[in-house]
Amino acid sequence: MKLSATALVAAVTLATSVTANIGRGIADPKAIEDLYRRHRDSGEYQKLIHKRGSPVQPALRPRATTEPDQAAITDATQECTAYNLPEISAIAKNFPAPWDNATILPGDTQAQAVWASIKASGIIPAGITPKGTANGDFSAFTPTYPHSDPDCWWTFGGCDTPKHPNLANDLVSCPEPDTWGLTFDDGPNCTHNAFYDFLQKNNQKATMFYIGSNVLDWPLEAQRGIVDGHHICVHTWSHQYMTSFPDEQVFAELYYTAKVIKDVVGVTPTCWRPPFGDIDDRVRAIAKGLGLESVLWTDDTDDWKILPLGTLPTASIDANYASIIAQETAGPRAHQGNIVLTHEINGHTMEEFMAQYPKIQAAFKHIVPLTACMNQTNPYPESITYPNFAQYVAGNINATGLPQGATIKAKDAKYNPTAAVNQTMTGTQTGGVASATGAVLGSKSSSTTGAAAAAASGNHKSSAGKMGGEVMVIATSVAAALALGATALLV
Ligand SMILES: *[C@@H]1O[C@H](CO)[C@@H](O)[C@H](O)[C@H]1NC(C)=O
Ligand SMILES: *[C@@H]1O[C@H](CO)[C@@H](O)[C@H](O)[C@H]1NC(C)=O
Ligand SMILES: *[C@@H]1O[C@H](CO)[C@@H](O)[C@H](O)[C@H]1NC(C)=O
Ligand SMILES: *[C@@H]1O[C@H](CO)[C@@H](O)[C@H](O)[C@H]1NC(C)=O
Ligand SMILES: *[C@@H]1O[C@H](CO)[C@@H](O)[C@H](O)[C@H]1NC(C)=O
Ligand SMILES: [Zn+2]
Repeated sequence: MKLSATALVAAVTLATSVTANIGRGIADPKAIEDLYRRHRDSGEYQKLIHKRGSPVQPALRPRATTEPDQAAITDATQECTAYNLPEISAIAKNFPAPWDNATILPGDTQAQAVWASIKASGIIPAGITPKGTANGDFSAFTPTYPHSDPDCWWTFGGCDTPKHPNLANDLVSCPEPDTWGLTFDDGPNCTHNAFYDFLQKNNQKATMFYIGSNVLDWPLEAQRGIVDGHHICVHTWSHQYMTSFPDEQVFAELYYTAKVIKDVVGVTPTCWRPPFGDIDDRVRAIAKGLGLESVLWTDDTDDWKILPLGTLPTASIDANYASIIAQETAGPRAHQGNIVLTHEINGHTMEEFMAQYPKIQAAFKHIVPLTACMNQTNPYPESITYPNFAQYVAGNINATGLPQGATIKAKDAKYNPTAAVNQTMTGTQTGGVASATGAVLGSKSSSTTGAAAAAASGNHKSSAGKMGGEVMVIATSVAAALALGATALLV
């Protein structure tokens, strides 16, 4: 059975189960209409993005110059009062302006050299052109795009298993049963102290996909992420539709975000999530060239739509959470691991998660960051060791080798993507900067088990994704239907 827009609408309305085509594209013209509906929703999202522009008049506030000082603030207005740090002023010139389209800065010879070596590696497939606009308007592109989805464009047909050689499958679900894969996008947000305090109090770690512009604007908040023991990944510089950008801009959006995370947070990231899930084989290849593995999700809370900054009442987001939770006990997805899309975009999405947390805990045996899901104990080239799944669920949740709040300080830390390429979850990297410079790849990080490597390279989909060949049966849920493209697909 093919997934059609009609089927999706039925799934949303009646909460019946739907069957989705994975990796094939959607040959139904109704699906294209569906895509247009998504653009309209993305306009709604873009308004939120504009609301959270960078601080305009940074006020010097002497008190908060360290991570612990900033983390101790409890008043939201004070938390969001901009601050100037001399160490940030010293490196800011090495980055695009916050929220601008990232491009390689004139005179940035390191970025130019890395980009040249990625191109020379041959990893970027020929013949995939940029699609639509940076705001996600694909109306001029889709009429001529083949329904067979040759580019494995997720936005078009939900494809997460690349069609071009030497690319790893996207990480979509957590391979451990009865496990909620906990991920938050769009941080760091200045109002996050209550939420990070909550995670700390509950001995809960998460994977955080940080926007590069937010890291530069809110460096002490970004530092709190690593100091608290969370797992830090990339979510682009300006949060736009990545398939719309020419190759070099795709590179710059990822490169400068990874670099600002290295400079401010002190780690070299090896994972990223495309805003809006908008990824194709060209974008996957450029990310891989930087050692960044692509992460999507199985379930979408759509929490970013929550009032008052969004348009939906809390009850409607509660219902999305409830459907995801309900899948754990009933339907074809029961007892399988998921990865859930939730947001650090504003205080309201964080409050909603905190309100839902007891219900998630009651239904799922485990709630873990992606490092634990994947037994990925060394997610960065730096010497920081996270617990594997067994250790994490036994209560040993703390990573070792983390920077300390009192001493962590931004500086030009010489971001080196070659080291990231060597440090992958899957161990299947054969392209990118490292191979271009002659490195022998294919050996995984020493701490990654064979099982984890196999799981990450796509075998996990045999349990979570590919039931009966190409077809994936999705449980009964509004959220699952949403994640497949019924309405907004926003990250
Ligand atoms: C960002 O880049 C896109 C695609 O290249 C372009 O359409 C858009 O106008 C740019 N926006 C700005 C603000 O430069
Ligand atoms: C952070 O969240 C607050 C609301 O809690 C919002 O007003 C602000 O715009 C957000 N800031 C960023 C940078 O996302
Ligand atoms: C983890 O570390 C924190 C301090 O950073 C400590 O309070 C907590 O007890 C530790 N938890 C475990 C399970 O070791
Ligand atoms: C990456 O791995 C290769 C092969 O193991 C090694 O030669 C190279 O030095 C590594 N590069 C970095 C930056 O770690
Ligand atoms: C993680 O490691 C444990 C052994 O400690 C193993 O049972 C489990 O299958 C591994 N999970 C993954 C996803 O590799
Ligand atoms: Zn996002």
